[in-house]
Amino acid sequence: MRIDRTTSEDFQRAVAPLYVPEMGTEVVAPFLVNLVHMLRPRRVLEVGMGYTTPYLAAALADVRAGVERESRGLAEKTTRHLSSAGGLDDEWLNAAPALAAPAFYLEPYEPGLVAVDDLSNPYSSAARVTGILRDLGVDDLVSVVNADVRDCAGKLPPSHATIDLAWVDAWECLYFFDHFWERIDPDGGVLLMHYLMTYPEGEAILHYLTEFQRANPGELELVNVLESHKLTQNSVTMLRRTAGVKRRRYGGKGGTVSYSPALRAGAEEHARLA
Ligand SMILES: C[S@@+](CC[C@H](N)C(=O)[O-])C[C@H]1O[C@@H](n2cnc3c(N)ncnc32)[C@H](O)[C@@H]1O
Repeated sequence: MRIDRTTSEDFQRAVAPLYVPEMGTEVVAPFLVNLVHMLRPRRVLEVGMGYTTPYLAAALADVRAGVERESRGLAEKTTRHLSSAGGLDDEWLNAAPALAAPAFYLEPYEPGLVAVDDLSNPYSSAARVTGILRDLGVDDLVSVVNADVRDCAGKLPPSHATIDLAWVDAWECLYFFDHFWERIDPDGGVLLMHYLMTYPEGEAILHYLTEFQRANPGELELVNVLESHKLTQNSVTMLRRTAGVKRRRYGGKGGTVSYSPALRAGAEEHARLA
């Protein structure tokens, strides 16, 4: 089972004061949590703080704890299997942590969230976020930059020269794309933008993005997710940068895992270092 504090009543009670109904992020916040659990980003950037910020921070803290636990379990099961005659096999694969890819665990998982907000919106809960991050004990993962996104590039920490996951929930989506796209990791980094569907300016940005995609084959994948039951604040646009994706081929025909010499070498190295 994964570690996920964001579904607990305590967490939801703690973040409730940040919830502003007209911001429309009640479903987006847990959606971001699940993306963090899937992508396991190390370098995360949020533009437009509020209800979503503690969800992102808590998800990074929980994944960090999960990775530590999995890494220990992976080293144990690898050591056990390599010392037996069988070596790496389906039993190794399916033992806890099931399906784990050793290569992921070779790099330390020390995530950080940089959250940018110029506090320009009096209706936003951005100004109240820091205290709640502290109460939740996840403030060690977050650096807050109180600046206009147009002035923030030089204020980001060096760790965020490249970004694995960016979440933009402010009017400046087009500016962000034009000025920060090159920072998104070309090996599958993801940029999410809130609310670009169902109104003219947003649709113009979507048109711009699809034209950019057409003019730059292989640069990105794009999908829009619409909450069609809502009149506004009702979509997430996801861009996945593919300009430099590494080839990952773990399975053979039918998706069965190949216990290749490279996989064995990675597992051995991880077990030695863990
Ligand atoms: C829609 S609210 C963010 C909502 C938040 N994600 C939530 O879930 O509650 C937009 C936020 O972006 C900030 N903002 C607006 N324009 C900005 C800019 N140019 N640079 C930085 N922050 C900006 C506002 O102060 C506001 O807090």
